[in-house]
Amino acid sequence: MEQYAIRGGNPLVGEVEIGGAKNAALGILAAAVMTEETVTIENVPDLRDTAAMLQAMESIGIRVERIDRHTVKITAKSIQDLVIEEDSIKKIRASYYFLGALLGKYRRAEVALPGGCNIGLRPIDQHIKGFRALGAEVKIERGLVIARAQQLKGTHIYLDVVSVGATINVMMAAVMAEGQTIIENAAKEPHIVDVANFLNSMGANIKGAGTDVIRIKGVSGLHGTEYAIIPDQIEAGTFMFAAAVTKGDVTVKNVIPKHLESISAKLMEIGCEVEESDDAVRVVAAKPLTHTHVKTLPYPGFPTDMQPQITVALGLSKGTSIVTESIFENRFKYVDELTRMGANIKVEGNTAIIDGVSQYTGASITAPDLRAGAALVTAALAAEGISTIDDIKFIERGYEDFPQKLQSLGAQIEKVSTERELQKFKLKIG
Ligand code: EPZ
Repeated sequence: MEQYAIRGGNPLVGEVEIGGAKNAALGILAAAVMTEETVTIENVPDLRDTAAMLQAMESIGIRVERIDRHTVKITAKSIQDLVIEEDSIKKIRASYYFLGALLGKYRRAEVALPGGCNIGLRPIDQHIKGFRALGAEVKIERGLVIARAQQLKGTHIYLDVVSVGATINVMMAAVMAEGQTIIENAAKEPHIVDVANFLNSMGANIKGAGTDVIRIKGVSGLHGTEYAIIPDQIEAGTFMFAAAVTKGDVTVKNVIPKHLESISAKLMEIGCEVEESDDAVRVVAAKPLTHTHVKTLPYPGFPTDMQPQITVALGLSKGTSIVTESIFENRFKYVDELTRMGANIKVEGNTAIIDGVSQYTGASITAPDLRAGAALVTAALAAEGISTIDDIKFIERGYEDFPQKLQSLGAQIEKVSTERELQKFKLKIG
């Protein structure tokens, strides 16, 4: 079984390049099916989730040409089928974006119900509500979400919860609807703006993305484009917190500092220095970390996808901290693993009460989901001694070359697949 072997204790020092945003890429890849012309997308992160999206696209006859590791050309001229039920797609959440994209373009879509990280219930009622408001019939049968419409008509949609997925999906379904659609209580995450910019570069007319009211004027068709995806806010944030917990000095490069403000603010609150420049942020953790309180919120609040990473840091911070998870109800599963490394954390409902300890110790742990897995890696990098982390397939869903990037900052981490390789790692690091 593949795992990461880590010897903690080295401060991370140096520079690291951040890749394209996973959650923007997933929306944009799906949106690429909305034109028959060729679309070239740059800065696509090379991840399990993006590979699954591309594989699903190929399974319905879409031409996918990989120009280099991060550039892909997509031509959706020859779609043979509007049913996506590939095995790989069932595992990822973003499969739901094919619903909005195919419905928007072809007025019909059948897509396997989305999987993804087990971090809570994750219903898609708001997506369905939006499709229905636009005039589609939607039903769930044989494990598929089936959406059909004779005609899609612009309308006024008020989302009951702020949802990234529903905002992007309804936006895609409305792009070629007749007349104007207004989405109220829309999510404002940077990847919503990126998907909207991408669609606009294909000829869509979307205004207000990044605010809570998005206005979409239906157009008759979309055309080809060339587009580069924004940097990944959460990958950047993960390296920033890795610097904090290892008492390091890391510059994350190729980022949009504005997207990282809530993360930078918390790092400064707990005693790190954060320096911003045009497209880089440097985090220096020269002083001992101190406690704080944090509540996850939709953007521009502190991201739920950074909740495990900040909890790992607060577990090593002097004093008592409180972390409140307000987006997903089941996102503290990793705390048991962290406790095995010596953390002192009590979870009550959606709140974690953390009494900082001075040191974690290495242990054999398991990644319960993507972000928690990455956070546990940072804990192991800070810990005394050796850790192994299982189920790294979760981490590979969202972090490209994670061990290599960490190694370049001085971390002792290796991906191993056998007991022999693990022993070799132990011998090598002495
Ligand atoms: C997206 O998930 C991201 N995934 C998640 O990233 C991220 O954690 C989340 O947004 C919040 O930022 C992708 O972009 C593929 P939501 P999504 O719809 O779209 C409730 C990662 O690690 N809700 O914004 O599924 C829902 O239960 C991942 O990269 C409804 O009630 O999240 C949750 O409480 C994991 N009905 C809240 O809204 C709906 O129809 C926000 O969910 C939809 C959502």
